[in-house]
Amino acid sequence: MKYTVYTLFPQLISLWAQEALLGRANEKGVISLDARDLRKFANDKHNRVDDTPYGGGAGMVIRVDVAVRAIEEIRAETPPPDEIILLSPVGEPLSQPMVEELAGKDHLCLIAGRYEGFDARLEAYVSREVSIGDFVLMGGEVAALALIEATARLIPGVLGAADSHHQDSFSTGLLDYPEYTRPTSFDGIAVPEILLSGHHQKIRSWRRKQALQRTLERRPDLLDSAELTDEDRAYLEELRNET
Ligand code: ADE
Repeated sequence: MKYTVYTLFPQLISLWAQEALLGRANEKGVISLDARDLRKFANDKHNRVDDTPYGGGAGMVIRVDVAVRAIEEIRAETPPPDEIILLSPVGEPLSQPMVEELAGKDHLCLIAGRYEGFDARLEAYVSREVSIGDFVLMGGEVAALALIEATARLIPGVLGAADSHHQDSFSTGLLDYPEYTRPTSFDGIAVPEILLSGHHQKIRSWRRKQALQRTLERRPDLLDSAELTDEDRAYLEELRNET
């Protein structure tokens, strides 16, 4: 996967991608990450990328002509991006299904803004606008990195164990079950006995129930679209009746 990120702070992106699993994936050539400075597309003598909003109001707006010159640059390269994604708090919420779809692409171009956002005419030049949540960041860089992290870890060769993401929260449509490691008892709190039993079938069943319970308690909205067996439904019913 190739990622090209346009930002006013390319160092924020490239520094992040030098460390840990992304750094290793980059070194191995499993992913490549190219952070480019949006400012080089400013074409006035002051190098301005932003301007005041028409109609008045606070803050500055990134100019459409500046961003479109960046898009024209990347569209002319080989391979051209499969998607051009604007990070914005008014975008479609990022979700695991969207992450899975994007992880299957060869080249993603991400555009991160600062200030009050972009001139709305930019919408016509991008394939989608994506938000990472119902809060406002100071810029799109952290959002772009969140999208990169979430997609990169699904690319074969990025994570250590080939399929260690298959049981993740959200990939099953449910929150993840709780995990434990040594010591078996800490501050009087013991690891659930079942996990020390070595009984794989029972452990699998316990984990499923824990995932169902957690999801019911913390994110009941997810249960509407999760894939549930009759047994899952019966267990949820049992839990609901308990309370
Ligand atoms: N830029 C500012 N806030 C954002 C958000 N929540 N998601 C994506 N981009 C953003």
